[in-house]
Parts: sequence; C-alpha cells; structure tokens
Amino acid sequence: MAYTAILLEREAEGQIAVITVNRPDKLNALNLTVLQELSAAFDELAADETVRAVVLTGAGERAFVAGADIAELNGVPDPAHAASHARLGQAVAFKIERLPKPVIVAINGFALGGGLELAMAGDIRIAAESARVGQPEINLGIIPGFGGTQRLPRLVGRGMAKLLIYEGGHITAQEAYRIGLVDKVVPLAQLQDEARSLARTLATKPPIALAMAKAAINEGVEVDLDRGCGIEAAYFGLLFSTEDRAEGTAAFLEKRKASFKGK
Ligand code: COA
Repeated sequence: MAYTAILLEREAEGQIAVITVNRPDKLNALNLTVLQELSAAFDELAADETVRAVVLTGAGERAFVAGADIAELNGVPDPAHAASHARLGQAVAFKIERLPKPVIVAINGFALGGGLELAMAGDIRIAAESARVGQPEINLGIIPGFGGTQRLPRLVGRGMAKLLIYEGGHITAQEAYRIGLVDKVVPLAQLQDEARSLARTLATKPPIALAMAKAAINEGVEVDLDRGCGIEAAYFGLLFSTEDRAEGTAAFLEKRKASFKGK
C-alpha cells in the first residue's frame, strides 16, 4: 500500500520498521487517512516476518501527535458516527498493543489526546525532554475516545488519570516519567537514535519469546494474579516447542552467542 499521511521505512536489513505520522503542518493530528494508514501499516508489519521491532514517531520537532483532527471531529454529524470514530481509533490502538513485536514510541513533541492514547498502546515510551503530554479533550467538551480513559488509569492509577483527564492540561516529559507514563526521557537530539538503538537490541532477541512476553504481560494485567500466572505458564510451556529455545540454552552451555531465527 502507498501511504500518503504516514511514512513506513525499514532499517537494519528490514528487521526494524519505523512509522512516522507525517502531517507536521497540523502537528501530526490524526485524521481519517492517518488512522486508516496506521491500521494498514500495522497489519503489514504483523505479516512481515523479517520485522522484529517497530518504532512509532511523529514528523518534525514540535509534535508526536497533537490528537485527533479537531476540524474533522467538528464535522462528525451525530453520536453514532462519533462512537464509530472512537471505535476506529481504538482499533488502531489495539493493533499496536496486539502486534506480536515490540513497539517503541519515540515521543518527539506534543503527545496529546489521541496521540497519547496511541503512545500508551505501545510497549515502551521514550520522550524527548521537550515533549509535553496530556489528555485535553475535556476542554472540547468531550472525553478521550481512543482508549485513554482505560489505558491511562492502568498505567498511572485512577487518581492521577482523573487529574490529567479532568484538568485537561499538559505535563512535561519529566513529570510523565515521574508518574510512569513514559519510560525514559532523553534530549530531543538523541531521541531517534535512542529508539532505534533499543529496537536494534530487541531485534537480536528471540522473536517468539518477545511476542509471548508481550502477550503474557498485556493479557495478565487484565486478570487476577492466579489467572495471570496461568497465562504465563501456558506461554512459557509453548516456548519449549521453539528452535530458538533450544538454541538459547545450547548457546549458553557452549559459551557462545545465540543466533535466534524466530522458529
Ligand atoms: N487537530 C487539528 N489540527 C490541529 C490539531 C488537532 N488536534 N492540533 C494542532 N492543529 C493544527 C492547528 O490548527 C494549526 O493549523 P493552522 O496552522 O492551519 O492553523 C497547526 O496545527 C499548528 O498548531 P497551533 O495551534 O498553531 O500550534 P501552537 O504551538 O500554538 O499550539 C498545541 C500547539 C498542541 C498546544 C495546540 O495546537 C493544541 O492545543 N492542539 C489541540 C490539542 C488537542 O486538544 N488535542 C485533542 C484533540 S481530541
């Protein structure tokens, strides 16, 4: 598929994919085209066995994504269309969250509204020092609709999520780090290298084990501890059917570096 509002590039012999939301003049706001193209791109990456890690970022230095496209939202004719628009954004977030490969989100500037919601669906969030994040929907008379009322409290707790969603302000990258909303803060000039470097490291890991670690964590946090440990044991067991598990243990015992093939 030819993309017009995002860039999809491959690096490191195709092992790393970089998706860039590319509407810098509109601070990379999520219009219908961006959402549809992100959806298609994550499908494409799910089917591409060469890709082992994904970086998601925004074009330019001002914004990762400044939210859903407010001009487009303004034209939504009725509640049913609004609900289905929310479902579309939520579906993109689920594609990120369920991609069986790590998604590193490089937050290069404003991550507001739908931007923060997509970022929260990623696995690891690295923010530039200059980035600002928030859920400002309340100021438009609405609430987050791409999963923000659900993922934010899961990440930072109910009280902090309510503070951010009720107040609708922006917080600094450092404050986002303090509350566990981003995992690392680096100078803007280092952000893209930092995200790619982590992606390259993860690309050397056994991909099936990475996928199962992701699934065990994501599925486990939604259920009670006992059931979560059951999910963990099932994935742990499945990994003993993989060649990479045999390679990993053999390489350790033979004191050599493992070479994982994703089998
Ligand atoms: N949807 C549509 N367009 C957006 C947008 C959005 N979410 N966020 C920014 N833009 C557009 C602006 O309309 C402007 O377009 P124009 O140059 O054609 O007028 C351009 O991007 C630059 O934004 P501007 O507001 O001029 O930049 P700023 O530096 O003064 O302010 C923000 C930056 C992020 C604080 C401000 O753009 C903002 O509050 N955006 C909306 C954030 C939001 O509410 N998101 C949740 C949506 S549900």
